[in-house]
Amino acid sequence: MKSKDMGINVSLRHITKRFGKAKTQVVAVKEFTFDFPPGKLTTLLGPSGCGKTTVLRCVAGFYEPDQGDVFIDGQRVNDLPPYKRPTGTVFQNYALFPHMTVFENVAYGLKIKKLPTRSIQEKVAQALALLQLSGLEDRSPNQLSGGQQQRVAIARVLVNEPKVLLFDEPLSNLDAKLRVYMRGEIRALQERLGLTTIYVTHDQEEAMSISHTIVIMNKGKIEQAGTPLEIYRRPRTPFVADFIGTTNFLKGEVQEVDEKAIKIKMPGIIISLRFADGYKPGEEVWLVLRPEMIRFAEEGEEKGLSGKVQEVSFLGSLARYLVEIEGGDQIQVDEPNPKHFRQKGSAVYLILDEEALHLQKVK
Ligand SMILES: Nc1ncnc2c1ncn2[C@@H]1O[C@H](COP(=O)(O)OP(=O)(O)OP(=O)(O)O)[C@@H](O)[C@H]1O
Ligand SMILES: [Mg+2]
Repeated sequence: MKSKDMGINVSLRHITKRFGKAKTQVVAVKEFTFDFPPGKLTTLLGPSGCGKTTVLRCVAGFYEPDQGDVFIDGQRVNDLPPYKRPTGTVFQNYALFPHMTVFENVAYGLKIKKLPTRSIQEKVAQALALLQLSGLEDRSPNQLSGGQQQRVAIARVLVNEPKVLLFDEPLSNLDAKLRVYMRGEIRALQERLGLTTIYVTHDQEEAMSISHTIVIMNKGKIEQAGTPLEIYRRPRTPFVADFIGTTNFLKGEVQEVDEKAIKIKMPGIIISLRFADGYKPGEEVWLVLRPEMIRFAEEGEEKGLSGKVQEVSFLGSLARYLVEIEGGDQIQVDEPNPKHFRQKGSAVYLILDEEALHLQKVK
C-alpha cells in the first residue's frame, strides 16, 4: 500500500441507466457526465432514489450503463467486470464474512489472487495497522463494535490496493457520535492515500464535512457540482438551496447598475451589492441568503429591513427567528450565541451580510 498514490481519472460520459421494462420502467440515471477530480474525495449527494448508488455501481462495474461510457485512468471500462477494475467498494452493510476472523476477512481477496502466505501476512498487517485494528486479528465480526466492523470493511478493500475508492453510505449503520468520528477518519485516510474517491451519502452535513467536491443529484441528473462552500453559499437552483439547509429567497427589484455596484430596491431600503453581470434596472431578482448571514441591528443602529418577530425557538447553540418584513415576506434568522431573546411581536431591523448574499434571476 503506497501512500500518496497520484489519484487517477474517473470520467463518466452521458451515462443513462434504466431499470425494468415498458410501463414500469425507471430511468435511474440520465445523461450523467462528470470528471471526478483525481486524488480527491467527491460526494454524490441527493435524496433517496435520485440515482447515487446507480452511478457508483456503474463505476464499480456492478451495473452496465444502457448508454454512455465509463473511463477509468483513460481506459473505457464498460465491458470490464468489477474484479478487473482498479476499484474497491465499501458497502453500507459491511458485507463481512461472519464465520471468518478479522484476519481471514481482510486476507480473503489476496488468497483468491493466490499471493504467497508471507506477502498476505505483511499486507494484512499493514492494512490493519492503517485502520487501527492491530491486535484484533483473531476476533470474529460479531465480537467487534460497529465502528470496528466498518474499519475491517475498509481494510478489506484497501488491502487489494485499489486505485479508486468507492463508498456507499458507509456510516449509516453507526450511531450519531461514531458517524462524526468515522467520517473524520475516512477523510484523513483519503488525504493520506491520495486515492480518487467517490462517496455516496444523503446526509448533507456529512457531505459538507468530508468532501473536496459535492455533486448534488436530483432525479438521476446533476443539479450542481462544486466545493462545499460554493454549494452552500451559491446554490444555483432552488432544489440545491432547499436540500442544503434553509435558505431565504427575498424578492427585490434592480434599481441601478454601474461597473462597480448593483443597487436593489427592497421594501423600505436600497441594498448595494458588488457588481453582478447580466442584470438590468427594473428587473425582479431573488436575493438568496442563509439564515445565519442575517443579523439584528443593535439598539440605536436602526437600519436594514424592518420587520416583526413572528416566532422564536431556542435550539441550544442558536436562536431561530421567523421575522415578517415589510411587504409580508417571511425570513428565517439564526442567531448564534444569543445574548437576549427578542420577544414575539417585537419590532426589529435586519442587516443582510452583503458578502454572503447572492442574486438569482426570477424566472
Ligand atoms: N436493481 C434495480 N431494479 C429496479 N429499480 C432499481 C434498481 N436499483 C435502483 N432502482 C431504482 O432506480 C432509482 C435510483 O436508485 P438508486 O439506488 O441509485 O438511488 P439512491 O440515490 O442510491 O437512493 P438511496 O439514498 O435510497 O440509497 C430508484 O427509483 C430505484 O428504485
Ligand atoms: Mg443508495
